[in-house]
Amino acid sequence: MASEAAPPFIEIRHAGEHAGQEVRVRGWLYNLRESGKLLFPILRDGTGLMQAVLFKKNVPEAVFEQARHLTQESSLEIRGVVRAELRAPGGFELDARDLTVYDAVPAEHPYPITPKEHGIEFLMEHRHLWLRSQRQVAILRIRHQVIRAVREFFDNDGFILADAPILTPAACEGTSTLFEVEYFGDKAYLTQSGQLYAEATAMALGKTYCFGPTFRAEKSKTRRHLTEFWMVEPEVAFAQLDDVMHLAERLVAHVVTSVLAHCRSDLAALERNTAPLENVALPFPRITYDEAVERIRAAGGTMEYGTDLGGGDETILAQQFDRPVMVHRYPAKVKAFYMQPDAERPDLALCVDMLAPEGYGEVIGGSQRIHDLELLRARIREQNLPEEAFGWYLDLRRFGTVPHGGFGMGIERVVAWLCGIEHVRETIPFPRTIYRLFP
Ligand code: 4AD
Ligand code: MG
Repeated sequence: MASEAAPPFIEIRHAGEHAGQEVRVRGWLYNLRESGKLLFPILRDGTGLMQAVLFKKNVPEAVFEQARHLTQESSLEIRGVVRAELRAPGGFELDARDLTVYDAVPAEHPYPITPKEHGIEFLMEHRHLWLRSQRQVAILRIRHQVIRAVREFFDNDGFILADAPILTPAACEGTSTLFEVEYFGDKAYLTQSGQLYAEATAMALGKTYCFGPTFRAEKSKTRRHLTEFWMVEPEVAFAQLDDVMHLAERLVAHVVTSVLAHCRSDLAALERNTAPLENVALPFPRITYDEAVERIRAAGGTMEYGTDLGGGDETILAQQFDRPVMVHRYPAKVKAFYMQPDAERPDLALCVDMLAPEGYGEVIGGSQRIHDLELLRARIREQNLPEEAFGWYLDLRRFGTVPHGGFGMGIERVVAWLCGIEHVRETIPFPRTIYRLFP
């Protein structure tokens, strides 16, 4: 006779749908408590935590003995009956009947990350394991939702995804932060931004976006800078600065709403106070660079007119608003070569930076682009950029040029803000910074 079919494997997040049923749960040992004839292993499987109860008399003797000695992060499977238990994490526990060990972590060489406090260097060095901790899982789940919401927003609004190359012949955002690579005897650079290519696809598709990794050889050691980060960059034919700002605020509002709707338990795991996020409703305030400088000075900041805002200036300014603020029309000379000058004040660029609240700094940078061939050519020369490398980019101004614009949103900065965490290094699975290329 065929033996009874083994009960199904379930994901912990679905435990509540199986109350009263016999199931199997597999994962890693998160914690183990012993109390007389009872063992309380807590399993994690990436979708949640679940406590099992092993009653000595309910499981084979050898199984109970083996389970008693299990160490953190050993992989295993538990068979048992799901039952509601308000005091257990997740609200359900597993009344265990059997336990099978896949890989027991040896006690003499234990898992290096324990519930005690570790220094950040140690954790970064063990990033491949640190990712398993509840806080890191919550952050990565929120990152996933941010990216989903971004794609959903553009896809539902008629934007076509058209990705830009990563190996490029020239700079987009200034030559001081280029990573150079040897390219069959020539020089190539890792892309700093897909924008120039998105301008080409916008002329083909109307509304387009690219979304990929971008690279900056940033010498800065701030909590907001990575050398490799992910950026989503919409680009829209016929868009002017006001359209760019409107698109930016709609995108950010959508992302925040979506994370609040889908990530409550992850935000709670991070002890994120969600009140400031609930405020993020349209429209976002818009102020000019001139007004920003006045406000920063009035609040005790010392920035000089004509320079870019520093991280500290951004924080002073953002503190004055209960939602992201958009600062537009910076002095052209502190901004990128491709930005359209303001017709009324040509010393200003038609650009915008969106600053997140609570001191999270610039999350979006964008602009209207120069669409005039001669003006663009002059800017490329003034900045000593190699004109040959930009021949194709100038072509966009030779064949049916139109005003257009777009922006880039840095995913890690947005995730850091929404999670309420100090440093962007925890918002990407394997961060790359000036000091870190490992693991
Ligand atoms: O302001 P940035 O440099 O703008 C551009 O690259 C434009 N070409 C985008 C466009 O118009 N299509 O960068 C855009 C955003 C910043 O606001 C910030 O969120 C993020 O990218 N960012 C970084 N994030 C992490 N580490 C860094 N080193 C970053 N540099 C920029
Ligand atoms: Mg910027």
